[in-house]
Amino acid sequence: VIFKNSNEASIVVATEIANLIKEKSQKNEQCVLGLATGSSPIKVYEELVRMHHKEGLSFKNVVTFNLDEYYPMDIENIQSYYYFMYEHLFDHIDILPENVHIPDGKISSNGLYQYCIDYEMKIKEAGGLDFQLLGIGRTGHIGFNEPGSHYNSGTRMITLDHITRVDAAPSFLGIENVPRKAITMGIATVRAAKRIVLLGWGQHKASIIKETIEGNISSQVPATYLQEHQNTTFVLDTEAGSEL
Ligand code: GLP
Repeated sequence: VIFKNSNEASIVVATEIANLIKEKSQKNEQCVLGLATGSSPIKVYEELVRMHHKEGLSFKNVVTFNLDEYYPMDIENIQSYYYFMYEHLFDHIDILPENVHIPDGKISSNGLYQYCIDYEMKIKEAGGLDFQLLGIGRTGHIGFNEPGSHYNSGTRMITLDHITRVDAAPSFLGIENVPRKAITMGIATVRAAKRIVLLGWGQHKASIIKETIEGNISSQVPATYLQEHQNTTFVLDTEAGSEL
């Protein structure tokens, strides 16, 4: 779906999420959301915060799982995805702290393998992801599933692509400060979501969006795996959709 601009599109996506939360709440059920970081989802979070303040949207029945986190990374670090999520969303809504899950960028390398298995288990125990919000990197990554990621991959440690590190360099004040690794949900983790919405804004996303939607399914562009998902919508602005 191509919108005139990302503002309009973000409101539509936030409304879908809010409706799902309300629908689940009426049935006394938890709503399990997979959440993304980066600039793309910021306006969606802004709108959800607005709905919380102005329309009484409650997040008491919401359980969240974030896609990824740099490794190693402290939660106090302003570049951490932990920091990002609290700054843009969790600090402003009534979600229960125990319902928030963000991969731990400080987990010891010895404990990492088990940690990733447990992260998957927690998603399953919560009933699976009802809704997964995604952005897309210029490498075609979703979460941090870089080119080469397997269709059946689960949560794991990944080595970041050079392009991803170049794109992250400004916010780290230089590529030498960008971590080389990250913990990310896998392709299989994302694919298991009942509903997926991928956001793409701006001309710089146009060519990867074209490859993702029109290209062959390939581990070289991990987002192409979404072509096989039964309930995925790509939500774009006119610039990001301009090469389709
Ligand atoms: C990072 C995140 C991705 C995100 C991508 C795009 O690499 N790990 O989840 O989709 O950036 O970022 P942006 O939305 O800022 O373009």
